Amino acid sequence: MRKKWWQKEIVYQIYPRSFKDSNNDGIGDINGITEKIPYLSKLGITMIWICPIYKSPMVDNGYDISDYDDINPEFGSLEDLDYLFETAHKYGIKIMLDLVINHTSDEHEWFKEAINNPESKYRDYYIFKEGINGNPPNNWRSIFGGSVWEKVPDEDMYYLHVFDKKQPDLNFENPELREEIYHMINGWLEKGLAGFRIDSITFLKKDQDYSSLPADGPDGLVTCKFKTRNRPGIEKFLHELKEKTFDKFDCVTVGEAPGVQYDELDEFIGENGYFSMIFDFKYADIDVESGSDWFKRTNWTTKELRNLIFNSQEALQKVGWGASFIENHDQPRAVSKFIKNTKYQNYIGASALGILYFFLRGTPFIYQGQEIGMKNFERDSIEAFNDISSIDNYERSLQEGYTEKEALNFVNLRSRDNTRTPMQWDSEENAGFSEATPWLALNDDFKTINVQDQIADSNSLLHFYEDMIHLRNDSRYSNTLIYGDFKADKETQDNIISYYRISDNENIQIIVNLSDQNEKIKLQSNDIKVLLHNYKNTKLNGTDINLRPYEALVIKLNEI
Ligand code: NOJ
Ligand code: CA
Repeated sequence: MRKKWWQKEIVYQIYPRSFKDSNNDGIGDINGITEKIPYLSKLGITMIWICPIYKSPMVDNGYDISDYDDINPEFGSLEDLDYLFETAHKYGIKIMLDLVINHTSDEHEWFKEAINNPESKYRDYYIFKEGINGNPPNNWRSIFGGSVWEKVPDEDMYYLHVFDKKQPDLNFENPELREEIYHMINGWLEKGLAGFRIDSITFLKKDQDYSSLPADGPDGLVTCKFKTRNRPGIEKFLHELKEKTFDKFDCVTVGEAPGVQYDELDEFIGENGYFSMIFDFKYADIDVESGSDWFKRTNWTTKELRNLIFNSQEALQKVGWGASFIENHDQPRAVSKFIKNTKYQNYIGASALGILYFFLRGTPFIYQGQEIGMKNFERDSIEAFNDISSIDNYERSLQEGYTEKEALNFVNLRSRDNTRTPMQWDSEENAGFSEATPWLALNDDFKTINVQDQIADSNSLLHFYEDMIHLRNDSRYSNTLIYGDFKADKETQDNIISYYRISDNENIQIIVNLSDQNEKIKLQSNDIKVLLHNYKNTKLNGTDINLRPYEALVIKLNEI
């Protein structure tokens, strides 16, 4: 694969509502991001991805856009964004925005016209269908629960929404709509963005038969994924999208593309693929059978996780490049999810996870707060949640026959609000996020987990992340750690995840004991150099190494 500039980036994901509140109204904002650019620069970040900041009624916290060309007032203004661009630029930090084109808000002007004036061209910008005998057109269930169809008042017509009913899907079959979208995208790219993270992009094409399928739950509905996600015909839309927008710029595109199979990766991220890279959710979702049915929990093992990671890396490497992540705004906190023994849900567990994913072949993404080891925040009633999918999953769990306590437990483990609590900057009031009460309650562990304390402590996770970034991007090993081949180590004991990054003249091994047991590993060489280690007092002699619980290291093997 030819080298691309975006392969060496370190991306930091910002959830703007929860990052930093500059004007003390309890809501994070653009000026808050600007204020923290020096912090990100010190950490070693080279690019940020900001979740949606466009005008929105905020039903899905910005993934419901009512005006693509304006900023939501609670986040600031277009001028504030220009200033952020300028500041980031001074620090050598690039900016990616979120691009949400599968749906808009129902408060978008297009949709209002579509509803108020059925004869207008805007009706065909969305997907309207007639009801069948007073019922919705079919039995598809939306990702956030209930039917995908919402009835139009005073008409026997319904509109389709794969997500919330306040997020009507755009009709990509309509060429005029597509052109409007391309125009909007090009307008943003001309402002000098580095690129986009592209939301739910595999949902653009719906099966045109709109037929029902056998129900898969007590609600009589069936997940809409089989008829709306990565369906035949999507290739035409994705190809045109790329050709008319991204291809005209030297930009990076990161597709949120659930439902793509490994044998299709070439079309998505190959040399002429639709995107620079896509997120692969297979290992992030290991704790549940499906990312949208949280009551279907698995009892996963380290060996299974290892196989998923290896399969993913091998598939990506064949054709292109990956986006490596362990957290985002839709996932629980990684330490709470992947470190089963709570005793190690601390620096040790978090640094082991850091080493595990950060040196995979791909561009690493760090979600805000991951670098200080923020954890899930357990809530004791469903009323304490803001996230719409948490409320839906609670209700669906009850329908499935679980008790209120069990339902709440599923939601606590998986809620998207786990990663949406305000960033913990210090141990003062509201964790230094805001002087006002934050829009979503803070995690109550901020007195012990916060940026200020970790800056002061040279042994903190924050400094460990700095070291990882430095090793990957600015050391004599960078070439191998960024561009080197991935090779799985399939010979280890089940609790160990180990892999190699290999270039012409160098072999670097990444070793993680992802368990609370002592484990042993045999190295290929006894002439090694330790590049990074999450335990002190290293005693490595010979080729037989004893690994303590969650011990993780990066070593250079001097003989191949
Ligand atoms: C995926 C986004 O990451 C998520 O937060 C959002 O709710 C859905 N897409 C709908 O836009
Ligand atoms: Ca604010």
